[in-house]
Amino acid sequence: MSAGGHDAGPAGAAAGDDRFGDDLRVLREDDERVAPLLAEGWTVESESWGARLQLTDDAHLARLAARVDQVRAQGWRVERLAPEQSGSIVALDALCAVDYPSTPATAHDVPDAAELESALAMSGWWAYGAVGPLGDLDAVTVLYPADARVDTLFTVTRRAVRGRGLATAVKAAAVVDLAAQGHRMFGTGGAAVNVASLRANEALGYVLEPRWLSLRKP
Ligand SMILES: CC(C)(COP(=O)(O)OP(=O)(O)OC[C@H]1O[C@@H](n2cnc3c(N)ncnc32)[C@H](O)[C@@H]1OP(=O)(O)O)[C@@H](O)C(=O)NCCC(=O)NCCS
Repeated sequence: MSAGGHDAGPAGAAAGDDRFGDDLRVLREDDERVAPLLAEGWTVESESWGARLQLTDDAHLARLAARVDQVRAQGWRVERLAPEQSGSIVALDALCAVDYPSTPATAHDVPDAAELESALAMSGWWAYGAVGPLGDLDAVTVLYPADARVDTLFTVTRRAVRGRGLATAVKAAAVVDLAAQGHRMFGTGGAAVNVASLRANEALGYVLEPRWLSLRKP
């Protein structure tokens, strides 16, 4: 299983990337090739964003811990998940797969459970989840080491319990725990149409980078 999923998708698209074929270019909005392509009649098919969170002070960590506590107060356990829980992670993700907005730069593939288990056990990946009172995994975020930061592969919440802060809480729990292990820089991203994802990340203190444009040939 390869990293560079859609939550980190825009960050995973590199300038000059030709993996999208002749009819599509995924370029950062400040790339000098954008204006000439638009002038030639290429159109913006979709937009995606990348964002970075740089931890600088303990007050930030305290705010993140408070987001975790809010969800715990509602009855969820928020915790790091073991590699053996990969089956539950994949089952939840498969249930929600149709809800991911798909753009060329942010496509999401439901991971294979065995490959995810191996990545969590052997490749230094992490998963944090919110487990409901009946033991159901209701939200999860999966992260992986990338250069000098920790990137998010995907985050998902069970449909019936969305809008209660679970995605924000599992992402906050990840940052708090990984900060305790010495990590200070985090990356994420997503489709511009995914307002809930964007809001959750802004609430956590992620700062948006220039957008990525998917440009379609006329
Ligand atoms: C994106 C997703 C993970 C959000 O999960 P969630 O548990 O509902 O998120 P939260 O409850 O933590 O809410 C996050 C923020 O989005 C807002 N929000 C939630 N649902 C929203 C919606 N449908 N429209 C607009 N804003 C919304 C919340 O108010 C909150 O903002 P706030 O902190 O400013 O109040 C969930 O919608 C999902 O699983 N979608 C399918 C998979 C996906 O797209 N994942 C993201 C890309 S990896």
